[in-house]
Amino acid sequence: MNDTTTFEFSPLVQGYWRLGDWGMSRKELLEFIQAHVDLGITTVDHAAVYGAYTCEAIFGEALALDPALRDQLQIVTKFGIHIPSERFADCRLPHYDTDSETIVASVEESLRALGNDHVDLLLLHRPDPLMDAGEVAAAFDALHDAGKVLNFGVSNFTPRQFDLLQSAVNQPLITNQVEINPLNDAVLWDGTLDQAQQLGLRPMAWSCLAGGRLFDANDEAGARLWNELDAIGKELGGATPDLVAYAWALRLPARPVPIIGSGNIARVKAATGALSLELTREQWFRILAAGQGRNIP
Ligand SMILES: NC(=O)c1ccc[n+]([C@@H]2O[C@H](COP(=O)([O-])OP(=O)(O)OC[C@H]3O[C@@H](n4cnc5c(N)ncnc54)[C@H](OP(=O)(O)O)[C@@H]3O)[C@@H](O)[C@H]2O)c1
Repeated sequence: MNDTTTFEFSPLVQGYWRLGDWGMSRKELLEFIQAHVDLGITTVDHAAVYGAYTCEAIFGEALALDPALRDQLQIVTKFGIHIPSERFADCRLPHYDTDSETIVASVEESLRALGNDHVDLLLLHRPDPLMDAGEVAAAFDALHDAGKVLNFGVSNFTPRQFDLLQSAVNQPLITNQVEINPLNDAVLWDGTLDQAQQLGLRPMAWSCLAGGRLFDANDEAGARLWNELDAIGKELGGATPDLVAYAWALRLPARPVPIIGSGNIARVKAATGALSLELTREQWFRILAAGQGRNIP
């Protein structure tokens, strides 16, 4: 088991948000998990809410076919988003809930679905304006003391929100999972990555391929970015645009760890090539300019 001081992400993380769309049988999913583990991608990213609270259970059922695989994984999951669904039959509109009892209940449900006795890293999914940091602290203590959660972090937090929660909880927040791609550069300028660099924590980067917009020829900004990534990929000896996009995120000094969203194992395998791509400063800024549709001032 990992503990707070030894937790490490694999060089890339496999995301499971879109698992419900992949149409895999449990056996095919098990083969997919084994295949990315064989590639060195051992950290997996989940959230209670993924697939309207169904993805963790699908994953758990696949893992049950080979329980020994669990020990090779670092399982990340999240809590805090409530949407109208079978699980929350009384819920009439999407909202956040970060009250202590709700957090504990969410994690216990995640553990049941995953078929596990602990998660390696638990993230508060989105900032909640009604969050009482003391409530979160109480839940984190209970979950940590019970051995149900080994490490804690946040997602989509501003530096100020991060500071507030860190001031209240007893465990170090070891990551902030945020969107990082050249079409959405907010965290480059709002202090999020500066804070991560200062604290020496690795952010997790979601939607490095802009959720697939890169590959949509009808998306003007996506297509403009694809052209620049393609041109730079050729300069780098034939790397494909997706690899160059991962390399763009990896080039940031806060050392974000990209979360792969693809359910296509050939694409996952290809993505590992990004780890050895090195962008020059000028190439990096060309990609930023293509994403933003303008040069920096
Ligand atoms: N914390 C948060 O709030 C948050 C929010 C969003 C996501 N996440 C996490 O981040 C992970 C990644 O996010 P994401 O899924 O948006 O990542 P992404 O990599 O930006 O987008 C993945 C999409 O791009 C498609 N794609 C990838 N390579 C392609 C190619 N060469 N040609 C055409 N299409 C291609 C994939 O389809 P195929 O499957 O067909 O390859 C998939 O639909 C999620 O699984 C989740 O774990 C977290």
